[in-house]
Amino acid sequence: MKLKIAVLAGDGIGPEVTHEATQILQAAAEFGGHEFTFTEALIGGVAITANGTPLPQTTIDMCLESDAVLLGAVGDNKFNHLTPDKRPEAGLLQIRQELGGFANLRPSVAYPALSENSPLRPEVTKGADILFVRELLGGLYFGQPRWWNKEGNGGGEAINTMRYTRDEVVRVARVAFELAQKRRKKLTSVDKANVLECSQLWRATVDSLKGDYPDVTVEHQLVDSMAMHLMNIPRNFDVVLTENLFGDILSDESGVITGSLGMLPSATIGGKVNLYEPVHGSAPDIAGTGKANPLGAILTAAMVLRHSGGLEQEAVAIEAAVAKVLEAGHRTADIARGNTAANVTTQQMGKLVHQALAESIDRHQSLHAV
Ligand code: IPM
Ligand code: MN
Repeated sequence: MKLKIAVLAGDGIGPEVTHEATQILQAAAEFGGHEFTFTEALIGGVAITANGTPLPQTTIDMCLESDAVLLGAVGDNKFNHLTPDKRPEAGLLQIRQELGGFANLRPSVAYPALSENSPLRPEVTKGADILFVRELLGGLYFGQPRWWNKEGNGGGEAINTMRYTRDEVVRVARVAFELAQKRRKKLTSVDKANVLECSQLWRATVDSLKGDYPDVTVEHQLVDSMAMHLMNIPRNFDVVLTENLFGDILSDESGVITGSLGMLPSATIGGKVNLYEPVHGSAPDIAGTGKANPLGAILTAAMVLRHSGGLEQEAVAIEAAVAKVLEAGHRTADIARGNTAANVTTQQMGKLVHQALAESIDRHQSLHAV
């Protein structure tokens, strides 16, 4: 199979972790006899520096001509003084809009090998396997009007708008329902319906779809108590559906279940071209030190194979290779807690996953040969 992958490495640790992810994709292509081509373009702070804009038109065009977009991270403290529409993050929001994917899938899995590395007790994280479905194109991130008037109303006034249409809720909710049907058939919809009209619309819309998915059990949770339940009994959750901002916050929190934010991948589907990005940010404080964890990006590569390549077996093989490397005790700094010290760099971690993948493929092929 052929895949044209646009690579937007971005800022901070973006290039380091994306490099390891593309190496793994290349390896998967070689092992499976597939043809993946990679083209690179600028986004975020590096694009501002080079082109004066966080998302040059050439980057948009290249992404729209590709089968999948793999993004590293955006964000650079150098640009903190700029208004939101000029910052590196604006490039990320705009590429999400251009590509049109509205359902951001963020799995959070408790790897047994990391049970001692989470600040939560092993008996709490044991068996946790959550899939967040975060609405990605609506809510406060995109609602108009939005402004900050620094002189207004006695020294400053600002406004952001949370706005959702029923159709926007329906399309993302259907993705969540369908994914729940393929998993443990439980859907938790998160809102703040005791205070917000948007959330009341959200809840009513989810309820109105229940009849189409009779095999799925639906529950509603208020976002504040959800934040607590997630840490208390994470294994109670299967698919968790949220609006944009709530999903941003809860998915970072769920990094605690996995052991680190550096472990979390994501895929955004439903638009013209799927967009793949690890959940973690650009981490400028550790950029270039070899401390970054490439596993979030590598697991994101597995999602590229699953959702854009239809290569489920290959995706599972990468996930298994990651689990194996963790079981062997290899740790970057972010997952070195408790009794384990950090013992590998970003690059070494990438190579170890590559080796584990090669070994599992060899084993697989020799099984076929027998
Ligand atoms: C994420 C990030 C982004 C978001 C930022 C960088 C715009 O935090 O992907 O979770 O809030 O969506
Ligand atoms: Mn975030």
